[in-house]
Amino acid sequence: MFTVKQDGLFDAPHEAVVIGLFDKNQPLSGIAAKWNEQLNGQLTILLKEGDISAKKKRISKVHTLGQTAVKRLYFVGLGKEEKLTFEVLREAFGKLFKTLKEAKLTEVAVALDTFTNERIDANEAAHALSEALLLATYQFAGYKQKTNEPEKKLENIAIYTEADQSEIEASAFVGRVYGKATNSARTLVNTPSNLLTATDLANYAVKLAQKYDFEYEILEKDDMEKLGMGAFLAVNKGSTEPPKMIVLKYQGKETWENVIGLIGKGVTFDTGGYSIKPRESMVDMKTDMAGAAAVLGAMEIIGELRPEQNVVAVIPATDNVISGDAFKPDDVITSMSGKTIEVKNTDAEGRLILADAITYAKHHGANYLIDVATLTGGVIVALGVHTTGAMTNDEALFEQLLEASIETGEFIWRLPITEKDKERVRSSKIADLNNSPGREGHAIMGGAFLAEFAEDTPWIHLDIAGTSVTSKEHDLGPAGATGVMVRTLATLVERFE
Ligand code: BES
Ligand code: ZN
Ligand code: ZN
Repeated sequence: MFTVKQDGLFDAPHEAVVIGLFDKNQPLSGIAAKWNEQLNGQLTILLKEGDISAKKKRISKVHTLGQTAVKRLYFVGLGKEEKLTFEVLREAFGKLFKTLKEAKLTEVAVALDTFTNERIDANEAAHALSEALLLATYQFAGYKQKTNEPEKKLENIAIYTEADQSEIEASAFVGRVYGKATNSARTLVNTPSNLLTATDLANYAVKLAQKYDFEYEILEKDDMEKLGMGAFLAVNKGSTEPPKMIVLKYQGKETWENVIGLIGKGVTFDTGGYSIKPRESMVDMKTDMAGAAAVLGAMEIIGELRPEQNVVAVIPATDNVISGDAFKPDDVITSMSGKTIEVKNTDAEGRLILADAITYAKHHGANYLIDVATLTGGVIVALGVHTTGAMTNDEALFEQLLEASIETGEFIWRLPITEKDKERVRSSKIADLNNSPGREGHAIMGGAFLAEFAEDTPWIHLDIAGTSVTSKEHDLGPAGATGVMVRTLATLVERFE
């Protein structure tokens, strides 16, 4: 709960008041100076001694020992004023809220205007604050039998600012929507595959559609057979879990034109199939639907904020498992587009299900295509775990996405697709395409393969194999699923032109 107020910060008995501190705020100025006065100049001493720090993302706590109505002051270091960015601010708030949660506080006040500079106004600061609160304090509920008391929650944030109250409320709401939707995606990704089958994913999408009044369609296996989705069906062949092609449509313009297609890889578990994964690499493959989760998260934001855009989301959902019915290396399959594919590796299954999903998105009128997928281990080798790999056939579309990603702090770096790369995916002797032409540059091979199905439609492929999950706790969340690309996709859609 956020409440926005203008006056009374000094006299309200808050559990804590939070103040942003820039480097140059020495000696203390503004609101901090006022508290310093009440505390007989003690803050100046603490600052000098280093007990309060203005260094970037440092959190310092001062107890007022009954001298003021407020019990504690928390200072958030913001570094050099001219260097503060939206991204740093969000992370600083993230760190703050983690600290406050650990301290078991339930209600705090934030002096919002101390977090602004020339570029970041109070509205943006409010967005960063509320988004960070949700992201940083996220926790996957898990399945342990509960014995402990339910945790105290940091629920009430009073935002004090001189800015327009209703505008700040609206900005805080937007940040909250972004944070909440990212957390929804995280929970989907963290859920094990026995509890999140393709059917479960489809049911989740239908609920989302009903809540936000999206048109939707769930294709069943026999629908897919009729449409000739041979690539998608091949991956599902070894499974007893029925595949689902999930389609959600959001129409924010009067006519169905300029449609953005968001396509998410929804492999609920990837064993590798007959090109089976070694046992260590198979662990965590419940997260192979993080692309689908990113798209669903973005659709949640779109449903809440209802931008004037048209969006079609397409999610092919299945597991990739083995049985006597499973597809095998050397099989040749026919995709919905008509292109034939020689399967050289059943573990390169993502590109197969996405091939038909891309074709189907175009079928639904998508004029722009953005696919998100945990596609290759190769992208982790190339870019590490903090940068999403991108490939595209359209500079202008990519520029727009890059801008959105800079704003959200979800880093993206582009990899090339050359004519030589295209030749490699077309290298099969007996079919149009080869799904695995060797390990050299194989993140690029994934992209080059998908490009064959995007054809002339402006398209971007985002490989999130490295960024969708993290092994370490960070300022904006715990270890586990990150919900990467939810915020970037939604920002792109909101700003799209
Ligand atoms: N789901 C994996 C990619 C992956 C790897 C995701 C590590 C998350 C973490 C994908 O289906 C896969 O197995 N890709 C193969 C492609 C290869 C066979 C061309 C890979 O990366 O090894
Ligand atoms: Zn695979
Ligand atoms: Zn996979």
